[in-house]
Amino acid sequence: MNIDELPTPAVVIDLDAVERNIRKMQDFVNSRGCGVRPHAKSHKSPFIAKKQMDAGAVGQCCQTLIEAEALMLNGIDHVLLTTNLASTGAIERFLNLSRNGDIKIIVDGRENAEMLAKAARHRGSSADVVVDLDVGGAKTGQQPGEPAAKFAKWITETDGLRFRGIQGYEGHLQISTPDFEERKAKAMEALGKITATIDALRALGITPEIVTCGGTGTYNISAGYPGVTDIQPGSYIYMDRRYGEIGSAGTDFEKSMTVIATVISAPTPTRAVTDLGWKGVGIEYEAIGFGGMPTPLLPGLKYSPGGDEHGILTASEPRYRPNVGDRVRFLPAHCDTTLNLYGFFYGVRGDRVEVVGPVARR
Ligand SMILES: Cc1ncc(COP(=O)(O)O)c(C=O)c1O
Repeated sequence: MNIDELPTPAVVIDLDAVERNIRKMQDFVNSRGCGVRPHAKSHKSPFIAKKQMDAGAVGQCCQTLIEAEALMLNGIDHVLLTTNLASTGAIERFLNLSRNGDIKIIVDGRENAEMLAKAARHRGSSADVVVDLDVGGAKTGQQPGEPAAKFAKWITETDGLRFRGIQGYEGHLQISTPDFEERKAKAMEALGKITATIDALRALGITPEIVTCGGTGTYNISAGYPGVTDIQPGSYIYMDRRYGEIGSAGTDFEKSMTVIATVISAPTPTRAVTDLGWKGVGIEYEAIGFGGMPTPLLPGLKYSPGGDEHGILTASEPRYRPNVGDRVRFLPAHCDTTLNLYGFFYGVRGDRVEVVGPVARR
C-alpha cells in the first residue's frame, strides 16, 4: 500500500529514522559501558520493542500494565513496570506476567510493597521490586540516601518481595530545561542522590543489581555515570516538536512520527478544514504553556482545533491554502499522547507502507 492510500487521520512512523535512532542510542550507551532499557510508553508496541531488544537493549520499561502485557505476551521477556500499583486486580495481573519472563515493578512505600508481598505470598512466589527514588521531581518516590536504603533493607527481610535495585528517573529535567548545560548541572544533582543511595545501601550490606535512570533529555549525562547500570529513554524513538526544541537531544535524534490528515472542506480562500481534531492529535501541552498545536509540514499554514474530528488550517495567503482532497502531514507537539489516541500505526519506508502495528492503548 502507498502512503497516499491510507485512511486518515493516520499515525505514520518512518521506520528508517526509527532504526537510526535506535542504533544511535545503542551505540552511545555501548560506548559509555552502560545499558539501555527503553521506555515503551512512547511506542506502546512489541514491534518497536523487538527492534530495540535486537539492537541490544537490556529490557523495556512500561508505564501501564497494558503496555507490560502487550510486550510480555508478545515475546519481550525483560520488563520493568515504572508505576505503582494499588489495586488487587492489577497486582494479580502483574504477578501473572512472571510466567512470561523477568517482570519487575517499582515501589516507593510500604503500602504498595505490602500489597504486592501479600499477593505474591498467597501464590507461594515473590514479586521483584525496584525502589523508586524522588531525585527532585517531587512526585512519587522514596527519599534518596538512608530512607531509601532502610526501605530496601525492609524489602530484603520481607517474605514475598525480592529487591532488585533502584530507579531515579529525573523526569522534571527533560523538556522543561531546554538549555543543555543547565539541564546537565541539575541532572548531576539528581545523580548525586543516586550515588548517596548506593552508598547507603552498601553500608547496609546491599548491592543493587539495577540502577536505572535517565530519559531522552539526559541520556548523555546519565549513561556512564558511576553506578548507573542502564538508562530508560523513551521519546528518542519518535521525538516530537517539543522534544526537538531542547539542546543536545533535540538535534541528536530524528523526528520519525507524523500524522497525516485530509482536507475535507475549503470554505474560504484562506481556510481549509481537515479531519484532524482533538481525537487525532495530543494538544495537552497547550494547557501548560508549552505550545501544543501540531505543526503542518507545509508552508504558510497554521493549525487550530475545530472540535473532536475537525482541525482548521489558516493560510497566511490564499496561495498556501490546500484544496479539498489534499493531504497534509503534521508534526505532533507530543508523540506519546498522540499515539495513545490510535489503535494502530503505519510503519513506512519512503512512501510504501511496510507494517500496520497495533498500539497498546490504556
Ligand atoms: C519513569 C520514566 N522513565 C523514563 C521515561 C522516558 O523519558 P523520555 O520520554 O523523556 O525519554 C519516562 C517518561 O515519562 C518515565 O516516566
